Amino acid sequence: MTDTMEALTWQGEQDVRVNEVPRPEIVEPTDAILEITATAICGSDLHLYNGYMPAMEEGDVIGHEPMGEVIEVGSEVERLEVGDRVVVPFTISCGSCWFCEEDMYSLCDESNPNAEMAREEMGHSPAGLFGFSHMLGGFDGGQAEYLRVPYADVGPVKIDSGLSDEEVLFLSDIFPTGYMAAENADIEDGDTVAVWGCGPVGQFAIQSAWMLGADRVIAIDRIPERLDMASYHGDADIVNYENDDVYDRLMDMTRGRGPDRCIDAVGTEAHGTGLTGVTDRVKQGAKLQDDRPYVLREAIQCCRKGGTLSVPGVYLGRANVPFGALMNKAITVKTGQTHVQRYLDPLLEKIEDGEIDPSFVVTHEGSLSDAPDLYEKFNEKEDGCIKAVLTP
Ligand SMILES: NC(=O)c1ccc[n+]([C@@H]2O[C@H](COP(=O)([O-])OP(=O)(O)OC[C@H]3O[C@@H](n4cnc5c(N)ncnc54)[C@H](O)[C@@H]3O)[C@@H](O)[C@H]2O)c1
Ligand SMILES: [Zn+2]
Ligand SMILES: [Zn+2]
Repeated sequence: MTDTMEALTWQGEQDVRVNEVPRPEIVEPTDAILEITATAICGSDLHLYNGYMPAMEEGDVIGHEPMGEVIEVGSEVERLEVGDRVVVPFTISCGSCWFCEEDMYSLCDESNPNAEMAREEMGHSPAGLFGFSHMLGGFDGGQAEYLRVPYADVGPVKIDSGLSDEEVLFLSDIFPTGYMAAENADIEDGDTVAVWGCGPVGQFAIQSAWMLGADRVIAIDRIPERLDMASYHGDADIVNYENDDVYDRLMDMTRGRGPDRCIDAVGTEAHGTGLTGVTDRVKQGAKLQDDRPYVLREAIQCCRKGGTLSVPGVYLGRANVPFGALMNKAITVKTGQTHVQRYLDPLLEKIEDGEIDPSFVVTHEGSLSDAPDLYEKFNEKEDGCIKAVLTP
């Protein structure tokens, strides 16, 4: 066996390349090494791709939605054996700190070796994440032939059934993320749930909103095939923000009250229309704000008084949002990187029971060498690309 492998590396803004890099080895006795069989590109990867994520370095191996076969385990690994087929959560969690014990895995206190960097920025450090900057641990990602998985007894979920990779792969991130987004929305009987963004996360938020008892789901985007998927597959009423004023449409649809529960499944790279859209870009370019909080602002304006705003969309730093409206309208906000480990067993059960087949979002497949091209398509929303899966 050679001691190198092929992996997708970040080289700078809109520049990712397949390179030969050292093959991962067991570092801690609690590690496992996987041979990757499938790995997806996420909307969060686009924040790295477009150069918005701080603390990236040339040559970083990216990707955080992997699955594969265990080929080596450290001496203290008890739950996994060589030959096991597993899906790996994007959150790296120790399993034994206070936060992990409270099931808040994405807030693990132990898994980020660069916690100090995060503390300076945020006051505290969240968990380390695969392939997601040095501030969040500097861990190599899973868009590669092999992956080192720290705390191997805590994260990976074993797949024993005959389900295909594409049916289970999204347990690594976007299915739990959509589910936690809907859970965080605190949906009650009779509720109208509005979901901004019909990317993969939005699609799973829509599916999950129904599972959690929504009475009506409204989906907002401008990409026709994504709106179609939300409508046909997600049974949502749709609003195309390029054709309609979102506030006016939502007020019409809810008799002036506004949606009870609002989900921002867009995040920092929101596309804005009109003057505020332009202002967001200018302020971000001038480093007066780190994010473009167009959707956050719109959702706060639209949300019914006393409603809930759930934010799975990723934000990176300072953003100008109307806190006054939030306060005076008594809106509850819930957010966070997903506590993936919490959802693995219950959501795998839903897949096994046939309640949902998450592979419905996949539009593109390719090998690792197709990754640069697929990043570009996914970023530009070209060629009908909604979700791309790589098979290294
Ligand atoms: N919280 C978590 O743990 C977690 C996990 C995975 C992804 N995410 C985040 O979720 C977000 C979505 O991820 P994705 O994979 O679906 O990405 P994506 O880029 O495929 O989808 C984003 C969608 O938002 C739409 N959009 C842009 N501006 C809009 C606007 N003004 N109004 C309505 N829609 C708008 C785009 O057209 C696109 O379809 C990203 O920010 C990603 O980082 C968070
Ligand atoms: Zn992701
Ligand atoms: Zn922990």
